[in-house]
Amino acid sequence: MAERNGPSSIKVGFRKSLFYFFTMASLMFFLSWFFVMQSTYRPNPMEYNLIPNSKHLSTLDDSKYQIRKQNVESSFGNRKLVKDDGGKCHQNDELVVKVYMYDLPPEFHFGLLNWKPGGSSVWPDVRNNIPGYPGGLNLQHSIEFWLTLDILASEFPQAPKARTVIRVQNSSEADIIYVPFFSSLSYNRYSKGKKNEKKNGNKILQEKLVKHLTTQEQWKRSGGKDHLILAHHPNSMLDARMKLWPATFILSDFGRYPPNIANVEKDVIAPYKHLIPSYLNDNSTFDSRPTLLYFQGAIYRKDVWPSCSLIYWLFWPFFVGGLARQELFYLLKNEKDVHFSFGSIQKDGIKKATEGMRASKFCLNIAGDTPSSNRLFDAIASHCVPVIISDAIELPYEDVIDYSEFCIFVRTVDAIKENFLINFIRGISKEEWTRMWNKLKEIEHFFEFHFPSKENDAVQMIWQAVARKVPAIRLKLNQHGRFFRSPPSTDKGLKSIPSPRNFW
Ligand SMILES: *[C@@H]1O[C@H](CO)[C@@H](O)[C@H](O)[C@H]1NC(C)=O
Ligand SMILES: *[C@@H]1O[C@H](CO)[C@@H](O)[C@H](O)[C@H]1NC(C)=O
Repeated sequence: MAERNGPSSIKVGFRKSLFYFFTMASLMFFLSWFFVMQSTYRPNPMEYNLIPNSKHLSTLDDSKYQIRKQNVESSFGNRKLVKDDGGKCHQNDELVVKVYMYDLPPEFHFGLLNWKPGGSSVWPDVRNNIPGYPGGLNLQHSIEFWLTLDILASEFPQAPKARTVIRVQNSSEADIIYVPFFSSLSYNRYSKGKKNEKKNGNKILQEKLVKHLTTQEQWKRSGGKDHLILAHHPNSMLDARMKLWPATFILSDFGRYPPNIANVEKDVIAPYKHLIPSYLNDNSTFDSRPTLLYFQGAIYRKDVWPSCSLIYWLFWPFFVGGLARQELFYLLKNEKDVHFSFGSIQKDGIKKATEGMRASKFCLNIAGDTPSSNRLFDAIASHCVPVIISDAIELPYEDVIDYSEFCIFVRTVDAIKENFLINFIRGISKEEWTRMWNKLKEIEHFFEFHFPSKENDAVQMIWQAVARKVPAIRLKLNQHGRFFRSPPSTDKGLKSIPSPRNFW
């Protein structure tokens, strides 16, 4: 009897453990998926050592960071002085995007800047009244503000000649339908919520937006495929994106997005607005920059999983990016000409970082809680050659810019090998560095935001990137409309069969 029982109880035990294993594995899988989709981790607002106090932030360096009415007026007025080029076509004419913009209620856009409509229009008259965007760290995601202003400005005859966007009033004539929701500001302003509030203001606005959009004629016509939605802050639109994903998003990276919701084919990566002022009249040289390698910021991720946890061991490859900072700190902390410092709360964070980056030959960009960060664009503005250690980073307009001409890329697995990084950086010659430094000065204007926009500044580069998506959007729309003459299909099943075409 015992002999007979033996193998079968072993079998049962084996099955049981197999069952446990699968249950655990699926649980882990769902958990990790859940965290990818619902990540509510808030990035450290003190990356540059600023006190995360909205009052402080909004008054910080007002003069430098807020757009002032007078400046806008005078520069806009100057455009009138630009001589007409006699109707000659501008080089970029074929890349002009025709945009239809929804007249959303101000609570979705300039109302978030405390602007109140005067007459019947939901838009400010950008010729003489620009509501200021809050300064400080808010600014790094202010892309929504600049793009919307550029659309509004395109309606006036004195708009910049080299414009890349034109607002049209008939949505049938538009290349793309623009959704003017300042989602990053909504996140920054309202995601904290007040006491006794079930839902925070950011969630409520997103719900309203989804409800509004999905009932619009234009949305129903295309299923949203020709819509353009801003979600530059990695945590903005967390709720709405699951319903609005057929649209093209403007993002800072894909770090928090599953690939079917956002991907490089469908979406547009926009730069952060750098916080460090541009280095004008940079007379520095390889030898006049004493620091070899510079990194300033949060070194320890706040949400690092305890490395002993099972989830960590099962999914360690996903965490390597965040841990690289810590790893690198231990590898580099004893190098004399390397500045690698912890973020501590000081008011002069931006000033210190400005001095630090301008005095450094190379500036490190290590993946943090997201693959991208403002630091890359601060380094470019400081002409400090970026060293990028972020395997999943996506770069703005990389289809037209070769970043390897002015950035050093290092794979994370290599960077955390002993002495690899420091030897690699020390091996870069003065001539090579000077070539990259010169290139940085050539390309920095691609990352500058202006109003009114200037030729090939960040605003126009983003529109051009959008323009390059238009043919693919048209293809999708035309395929979508193939059967419009056919009576409604009786084959219900076919609709749900995924094919490479209707994947997004
Ligand atoms: C919008 O444009 C389409 C196509 O050009 C045209 O058929 C339609 O009449 C226009 N609608 C209005 C209101 O002008
Ligand atoms: C650059 O110019 C500034 C001000 O004109 C001067 O103080 C500085 O020494 C110069 N640096 C170099 C490396 O020439």
